[in-house]
Amino acid sequence: MAVAAPVPDLADRATDCADRLREAGRVLLASHIDADGITSAAIASTALARAGIDHEVVFEKQLDEESIAGIAAREYDVVLFTDFGSGQLDIIADHEAAGDFVPVIADHHQPADRDTRYHLNPLLEGIDGASELSGAGASYLLARALEGPDGDNRDLAGLAVVGAVGDMQDSTDGLVGANEAVVADGVDAGVLDARTDLDLYGRQTRPLPKFLEYASDVKIPGITNDESGAISFLTDLDVDVKRDGEWRRWVDLDADERRAVASALMRRAVASGVPSDRIEALVGTAYTLVDEEVGTELRDVSEFSTLLNATARYERGDVGLAVCLGDRGDALAEARRLLRTHRRNLSEGLQWVKNEGVTHEEHLQWFDAGSRIRETIVGIVAGMAVGSPAVDRSKPVIAFAEKSAGELKVSSRGSHALVRRGLDLSTVMREASQSVGGDGGGHDVAAGATIPTGERDAFLAEADRIVGEQLS
Ligand code: C5P
Ligand code: C5P
Ligand code: C5P
Ligand code: ZN
Repeated sequence: MAVAAPVPDLADRATDCADRLREAGRVLLASHIDADGITSAAIASTALARAGIDHEVVFEKQLDEESIAGIAAREYDVVLFTDFGSGQLDIIADHEAAGDFVPVIADHHQPADRDTRYHLNPLLEGIDGASELSGAGASYLLARALEGPDGDNRDLAGLAVVGAVGDMQDSTDGLVGANEAVVADGVDAGVLDARTDLDLYGRQTRPLPKFLEYASDVKIPGITNDESGAISFLTDLDVDVKRDGEWRRWVDLDADERRAVASALMRRAVASGVPSDRIEALVGTAYTLVDEEVGTELRDVSEFSTLLNATARYERGDVGLAVCLGDRGDALAEARRLLRTHRRNLSEGLQWVKNEGVTHEEHLQWFDAGSRIRETIVGIVAGMAVGSPAVDRSKPVIAFAEKSAGELKVSSRGSHALVRRGLDLSTVMREASQSVGGDGGGHDVAAGATIPTGERDAFLAEADRIVGEQLS
């Protein structure tokens, strides 16, 4: 009872990849270690298992010559890469030509200058890989193509939405493009709910004062970053904001109570002179996994994706994968423990950037966190800094952190406005890093690289030149 392919433009590629995996019968599944990569692995692993295809899952922080050589050394004829692989096709294609393995790729990153037969990537069909389909979305299309006669894989659409939101693909209009077809599958299958709601982080788990105080995307004077302000705003409302002496959470309020709080918040924002486009950003699409327990991180896709990053970015992708596959015992407890550390690291990292400030070049701005910020989260911190006063929104930001002896991690973040003017950070990171003996890639709006430590300033000069060219 196969249902129509959710994204017709990618259906042939998905079918080709699925056929090759079935033919293999035994597959090594390699995935990227972040929220999108973990959900990609969970989706692909579930679909392979349901199709009776034997497999093993490995995670890599980054695909490079060394990690791909390690994969090639394993005794697998076919390797499925999810949420990475396209950007490293130059290296992968050499291994394929040498007969080391046949690659099957489900990815959404900018492809390198080589191609391969089994390659499922939205960018190959004119679909934007930064905002219209994530790695988990590509893996989901593959899962739909792997469906057997016993049932469909639409229940995996919820995880695909977690991956897309984890890669920050949702805009003020929610998920768009091919992602909308994935959302529709999840709603049809009864695993996902999509509705307009107050668009603040922590709807499920944060007590109301923290929910309002910590939401910093839209700044409301006297509430944002102001604990006593948030508390007095709430207690002045004609809503029961506490029950049995405990603060309630957004999810505990009924529809009327939510409307009352949301409209009071808008009125306060208007009265304090918040610009109207910022006020509109207070409302967005909330995606809820309806089978998950109310009030847990797993029920809100945005909180779920942060929980997964908290495992993945600390070399515990196995824990995140187990949670995605349904472990609500030890794995969930461990993920929650990791989440506390992750939150503390993000907030300390952002504070450090705010204190130290950034250095301005002609076309970009940068900071070097050294060992102050973990290299695996410096990109998330850079992204959060873009929304803060520490960073000038008219230029992209480049962040450095120590990776290992002799190596620097680079992360870059731009804005959609800059992308519309011609910015493509994926090209900037690839070309500037290769010019100093490193490598990189990613998306137009967010990309990264690894370079030799001593080359930071040469890299910056080259990146500044390329950004200048793109924006001219
Ligand atoms: O490897 P990958 O695709 O997972 O990483 C995507 C990264 O790009 C995420 O860290 C996400 O925060 C960032 N991003 C962003 N703004 C966007 C899209 C993605 O900062 N509009
Ligand atoms: O960690 P992750 O990249 O999923 O975070 C996505 C966004 O969620 C952050 O940019 C931040 O605005 C928000 N967030 C937050 N509080 C946290 C973690 C994430 O507000 N503890
Ligand atoms: O690590 P960071 O969050 O800055 O990565 C931003 C984007 O750039 C991600 O999509 C990541 O996969 C990509 N990237 C890459 N090559 C690198 C580093 C990052 O393609 N060497
Ligand atoms: Zn991704």
